[in-house]
Amino acid sequence: MLTWRLHILLAASTAFVTLANASCVKSGLPKPGVQVAAIGSDVQLVCNKMEENIHWTLNGQVLPSSLIFVAQDGYLNLTNISLEANGTYSCNRHSGVLLHSTTLLVGYRPSPPTIKCRAPSTVNFGCDWTPGRESHLPTKYSLIIHAVSSFFPKKDEIVKCLPKGTKQPYRCIFYAYIHDQTKFLVKMTAGNALGCTESNGESFIPREILKPDPPVIVNATSVDQEATKLFVEWKNPSSWVHTFDHFLEYELQFRSLRHTHFERERLNKKKRKYVIPNAEPFTLHLIQMRAKESVNYGQWSDWSPVSYVGPWNDTRIKNVFIQEDLSILPTQSKGVNETGFPINQTWDPQLLIDSHQCILNEFVMYAVVAVFGLAVCILIGLIIVMQSYHT
Ligand SMILES: *[C@@H]1O[C@H](CO)[C@@H](O)[C@H](O)[C@H]1NC(C)=O
Ligand SMILES: *[C@@H]1O[C@H](CO)[C@@H](O)[C@H](O)[C@H]1NC(C)=O
Ligand SMILES: *[C@@H]1O[C@H](CO)[C@@H](O)[C@H](O)[C@H]1NC(C)=O
Ligand SMILES: *[C@@H]1O[C@H](CO)[C@@H](O)[C@H](O)[C@H]1NC(C)=O
Ligand SMILES: *[C@@H]1O[C@H](CO)[C@@H](O)[C@H](O)[C@H]1NC(C)=O
Ligand SMILES: *[C@@H]1O[C@H](CO)[C@@H](O)[C@H](O)[C@H]1NC(C)=O
Ligand SMILES: *[C@@H]1O[C@H](CO)[C@@H](O)[C@H](O)[C@H]1NC(C)=O
Repeated sequence: MLTWRLHILLAASTAFVTLANASCVKSGLPKPGVQVAAIGSDVQLVCNKMEENIHWTLNGQVLPSSLIFVAQDGYLNLTNISLEANGTYSCNRHSGVLLHSTTLLVGYRPSPPTIKCRAPSTVNFGCDWTPGRESHLPTKYSLIIHAVSSFFPKKDEIVKCLPKGTKQPYRCIFYAYIHDQTKFLVKMTAGNALGCTESNGESFIPREILKPDPPVIVNATSVDQEATKLFVEWKNPSSWVHTFDHFLEYELQFRSLRHTHFERERLNKKKRKYVIPNAEPFTLHLIQMRAKESVNYGQWSDWSPVSYVGPWNDTRIKNVFIQEDLSILPTQSKGVNETGFPINQTWDPQLLIDSHQCILNEFVMYAVVAVFGLAVCILIGLIIVMQSYHT
């Protein structure tokens, strides 16, 4: 009973490991006339004729001086071989007659690839992968997809992965269903004639690895006659596949160059445009977007690259108040001292309002004084008139 349970336990914990080991197979095994050897190893090549006075060549040339070798009795012993030992060896009589030839392929056994599995949309599963060190030998890469399911055991799926294209990481695609609750264990194996290794394993249920690419800001601009508004328009990343039941929702973040903290705004999933109502006048802003599947599957995308935009400003006011001093673009500390009092008056818009108010206050004050003075004058006049009337 105990052994039985132990057996189950062992089987459960090592199932994937043993399976992966079983599936991790050497590949590209040497054909007749071909030998494969690891860099740094010693190799013996045989001329099939036991003759005296054999002459060896590599790719039709004299053996290079970098090779450490001994040729004796129809054998060629190579020691501590490097890549320079790779090629086709021929043994000839001194007359030049070819007796035999062997191809020696020199390389490394594969080193483990690295994988990162991700779905940029709900119907597009796969792993981004980077091969390990260059093995110099034909190497086969496969994804092994193992479904951990106690009730309905599924056969492991093996997907061949080709290092296609010039850009790494490469991508290897597999099929999965976004609503599937099955946990998958995914590994990549790399096999060549010298051995087989496997990558780190990733374990997940399909929806967990959903992570869209960032949305693309297609237009970030000012709004005419509006000193505190910014207009932003974006589109879905090209890798997002639209389906009837899955949408993206978005988050926008923005800040003016004068602040270090971003303001964030969750946005309606149907629209892909937005007007920021509370931008800072006369200041450049940074804007970024990110996206997430709207029923909360998976993770937020990374933030999109920054777009810079400033709100509309009245160029006439700019011409009067800002004049030539645009080089001192507003940063957080310039223009105001710690109490917020403007110390540099060339550009600050707040000051513009302040000075208007100043002028207004002065006007009101003069008006009050004038009205008051007029009243006093009239009063004095009245008194004088009344006195002269009495006398
Ligand atoms: C060549 O290698 C074989 C096998 O490793 C060894 O038996 C033989 O003695 C070697 N010959 C020489 C001359 O080193
Ligand atoms: C084998 O060759 C490599 C470089 O080609 C060298 O670094 C290493 O020391 C050599 N090993 C032996 C045992 O000679
Ligand atoms: C080794 O030699 C074979 C046969 O000449 C050739 O096909 C292969 O590309 C060579 N490998 C390297 C790494 O140069
Ligand atoms: C950006 O949006 C504004 C406001 O809707 C529009 O007038 C302008 O033509 C758009 N620019 C581009 C390049 O689409
Ligand atoms: C005002 O707007 C113009 C273009 O509309 C822009 O070139 C200028 O930099 C803006 N000035 C400030 C202070 O934002
Ligand atoms: C800021 O400027 C105001 C007006 O010039 C001054 O009264 C105040 O002391 C200044 N504060 C600091 C921290 O420099
Ligand atoms: C505003 O600041 C700039 C640079 O800090 C300076 O060159 C300029 O004279 C200042 N203007 C005033 C009115 O203080």
